[in-house]
Amino acid sequence: MRDRHRIELRWRDGRTETVHGTEDESVLDAAERAGVGLPFGCRTGACATCTGRMIEGEIEHARPPRGLKREFEQGGYVLLCIARARTDCRIEVGSDVQTDLVTNPWK
Ligand code: FES
Repeated sequence: MRDRHRIELRWRDGRTETVHGTEDESVLDAAERAGVGLPFGCRTGACATCTGRMIEGEIEHARPPRGLKREFEQGGYVLLCIARARTDCRIEVGSDVQTDLVTNPWK
């Protein structure tokens, strides 16, 4: 087994959970293994339902994150279904994060 990393998950309502993920599993899988529910859809990096935002640390996407525009990837957004921790991480999670990626025509 490769290294395990501490992954702190933070929701915008202030809730936090800490899980541990190996370098071979996605953050989403690590959270599920720990009994922590996160939003997801396709689990292949296409739909962006699982979007998180890196606060601290490094992940690597296991495949190109097709559901993320380049500008958002550069802005620190990640797809947790294909994101594997490379260091200890702190990540903002929850369905609110995905709404950052959606243009609201009423604003
Ligand atoms: S669940 Fe669809 S991109 Fe992660």
